[in-house]
Amino acid sequence: METYLLDWANLLLRWLHVITAIAWIGSSFYFVFLDSNLLAPTAEDLKEKGVDGAIWSVHGGGFYHAQKYMVAPKGGIDSHLHWFYWESYWTWISGFLLFVVLYLWNAGIFLVDKQVFDWSPMAAGIGALVFLAAFWFIYDAICRIFGQHKNGDRIVGALVLLVVVCSSWIAFHLFSGRAAFLMVGASLATAMSANVFFWIIPGQRKVVAAMTSGQPYNPADYAIYGKRGKQRSVHNTYFTLPVLVAMISNHYSFLYASEHRWVLLMLLMLAGALIRQFFVQRHGWKLGRASNPWPFAAIGVVVLLALIAWLKPAPAAPAAALPETVDYAQIKPILEQRCYICHGEAVQQKGIRVDSPEQATAHAQNIYQQVVVTKQMPLSNATGMTDDERAMVGRWFESQNK
Ligand code: HEC
Repeated sequence: METYLLDWANLLLRWLHVITAIAWIGSSFYFVFLDSNLLAPTAEDLKEKGVDGAIWSVHGGGFYHAQKYMVAPKGGIDSHLHWFYWESYWTWISGFLLFVVLYLWNAGIFLVDKQVFDWSPMAAGIGALVFLAAFWFIYDAICRIFGQHKNGDRIVGALVLLVVVCSSWIAFHLFSGRAAFLMVGASLATAMSANVFFWIIPGQRKVVAAMTSGQPYNPADYAIYGKRGKQRSVHNTYFTLPVLVAMISNHYSFLYASEHRWVLLMLLMLAGALIRQFFVQRHGWKLGRASNPWPFAAIGVVVLLALIAWLKPAPAAPAAALPETVDYAQIKPILEQRCYICHGEAVQQKGIRVDSPEQATAHAQNIYQQVVVTKQMPLSNATGMTDDERAMVGRWFESQNK
């Protein structure tokens, strides 16, 4: 019953998480697009109003005219002011709950890989939370200390890159491969939401409060909030693609089972950030405001191609002489040794049991997929299954359809 309900919690939270993330990243992409496409207005009335940039667009049958004011619009804001933050907060909340349901609830299975680091599920769970918090505190301290220096953006960029690389190395030496990918992605994603929560929105609130207080105020005094918020917002832009690849890596065992996995994740993230740079710069380039962004895209794609070549699996060794057909009785000892602890009488992960021929046959396709094709099972190869044993399970599956 517990696993059944956990599966539902998992599904619903994941659904919510994907929806809110689309809303957040979608609006973030949209505003980056706006910033790089707005043109100084030519119409007198817009200049009169103090508009800094405007763009016409068409969508869903209607025409939209977006205008940007760097400082308070002259006439004030005369209607409802919409704030963008729930997308970000709910992405974090749903993501964190999903992490609790999946990784913390079953920390012994999902977080711990004893071949990587031998610790108790409880210690690993606490370790994971400390890892997330520590990343934020270190990242935030770097931005606070160096952000407003001369060349602040470069110094911060270089240091943040260093922190990401170090934290990735640490994650891959503490957690199972699959969890480590997620932990690195989740720590960047937590920093993104925390940027919105602790810096971007509070800064905007101060500016709006001054603007609407009715007292005269000097916009220059408030420029620092805009500058700080912008710096965090730029980081968020470059984090998006790297975070997304870390999140979806969970479905690809050839990534997290690779012996080079932490370097691999860093290179995937690098490719993501470069490709994002291409998209950020592309519009400015068309308008003659930025240099040609194609080199960024090209380097990103070359990194990906190099990864594809690098990870190419070695040709399989000739299979040990396998019987023509294999029946359940012949693989039973293997399943008993490698699977029963998680899919037997006592525990049924994902509602799957493999301890009777009927049950195994009912899930044959899925077992083949998990054990032979993707090698995701046994999870983190906790029970040390060998390739010969996988080949036997493969032959059993083929025998079923003979
Ligand atoms: C250490 C525990 C553990 C061991 C050992 C283990 N599994 Fe699993 N298995 C799990 C967990 C946990 C899940 C759910 C995974 C998820 O939700 O991502 C699962 C899921 C599955 C699934 C369903 C996958 C899906 O998403 O539909 C199959 C099939 C499966 N296991 C087969 C096996 C077989 C066959 C073996 C033995 C060769 C095995 N497992 C060994 C823990 C284990």
